[in-house]
Amino acid sequence: MEKMIIHGGAPLKGRVVLSGSKNAALPLMMASLLTDEPVRIRNVPRLWDVRTAIDLLSGLGVVAKWTGEHQLSLHAVRVTGHEAPYQLVKTMRASFFVLGPLLARSGRARVSTPGGCAIGARPVNLHISGIRALGARVQLRGGYVEAHAEHLKGARIWLDNPSVGATENIMMAATRARGSTQIENAAREPEVQDLAKLLNAMGAQIRGAGTHVIEIDGVDRLHGADHETIPDRIEAGSMMIAAAITGGDIEVANAPTVHLDAVMVKLREAGAEVSGNGSLGVRVRREGTLKPVEVRTLPYPGFPTDLQAQMMALLTQASGTSVITETIFENRFMHAPELIRMGGDILMKGPTAVVRGPTQLSGAPVMATDLRASMSLILAGLAAENTTELSRIYHLDRGYEALDAKLGQLGARVERVKDAP
Ligand code: EPZ
Repeated sequence: MEKMIIHGGAPLKGRVVLSGSKNAALPLMMASLLTDEPVRIRNVPRLWDVRTAIDLLSGLGVVAKWTGEHQLSLHAVRVTGHEAPYQLVKTMRASFFVLGPLLARSGRARVSTPGGCAIGARPVNLHISGIRALGARVQLRGGYVEAHAEHLKGARIWLDNPSVGATENIMMAATRARGSTQIENAAREPEVQDLAKLLNAMGAQIRGAGTHVIEIDGVDRLHGADHETIPDRIEAGSMMIAAAITGGDIEVANAPTVHLDAVMVKLREAGAEVSGNGSLGVRVRREGTLKPVEVRTLPYPGFPTDLQAQMMALLTQASGTSVITETIFENRFMHAPELIRMGGDILMKGPTAVVRGPTQLSGAPVMATDLRASMSLILAGLAAENTTELSRIYHLDRGYEALDAKLGQLGARVERVKDAP
């Protein structure tokens, strides 16, 4: 086990280049199951979750290899396995996204349900009802979803809520169904759009990705393709908040500003100077006092739930009372008690947290509970006086590539050290 030591107090300044998006790369990788030709994906981040996805796909018969520092070749010549085991799905929930492509490619799949995690129950009912609507026979047995379909047929599917994963799973399954499928109340996230772009490059017929209604005309087969993963908008937001919380000046070189409207608006409201450099790149500076704001997480294009924890750290430094409402997950304030230990003044009531500031944060030994909470505590440590020790940073390594090096280049004093088991 490792922990991260963060020495606070230095404003972060300089230029950082984002990695490819974790939440785009994972479904892009699963899409390789839909064809017997090679799929080459560029700008794939070197993360634990990507490694888990490679292990999962290899177990299904996909020949996966790194052909460059961030370039993956995935070739499902034959699908030789049909099972996504509990151990892998429990480790990484996105493993569940093999259900749709496996079913479409080979007519059967046995995928463990992911179970809950730190941030919530994380059900998969919308995934299951979606593939049932496409004609699959599905049963739940021993914690596994067992699905069969000689062939899938197009259907009109309504999602109770715009689930990102369910939209992606159903969209992948529908690419090779007979007839047309409409996914209504679909997720609009950039990662869904990026997946549709790859699928269309593979020969799928998808229209409307990025809107609430996605139409898919099924085709008999899909072919190989080359694709560039979009930059990680959540890493972008995390770095933008790092500039704001430390009173620094950071250029996020390849920030996909078109995906960051809600974040840019909120940071401007909070008193940061945010200048977008066109479609790619943003500069964030903060010199004056931070102002309190109200943040409500919503499906895209609303404020992203994956930046809620990082925003809470920032708002402990705002002069006044801020209100954060988490509407996506039922238990996503796990970072709050740790921020309180560092000096944050935070009162939680159900899905709402009231943050009063500014309070002087002071370094402390704290524990990461999930991926985005880890980043929140690092940001707090960067703003705190003296030193913070963050344990269980394996959470961090799931979703942030070379974070310590990136922060170090911006002037942060952070280091990894061995931690007691
Ligand atoms: C994706 O998770 C992301 N992960 C999450 O990022 C992100 O927080 C989430 O979307 C919301 O934006 C990946 O893309 C790999 P959902 P996903 O299905 O697809 C409920 C991170 O930190 N729901 O959109 O699992 C669910 O309980 C991770 O990078 C159902 O009720 O999220 C939640 O309340 C964390 N039934 C809401 O929908 C279902 O069948 C949104 O979940 C599916 C979901």
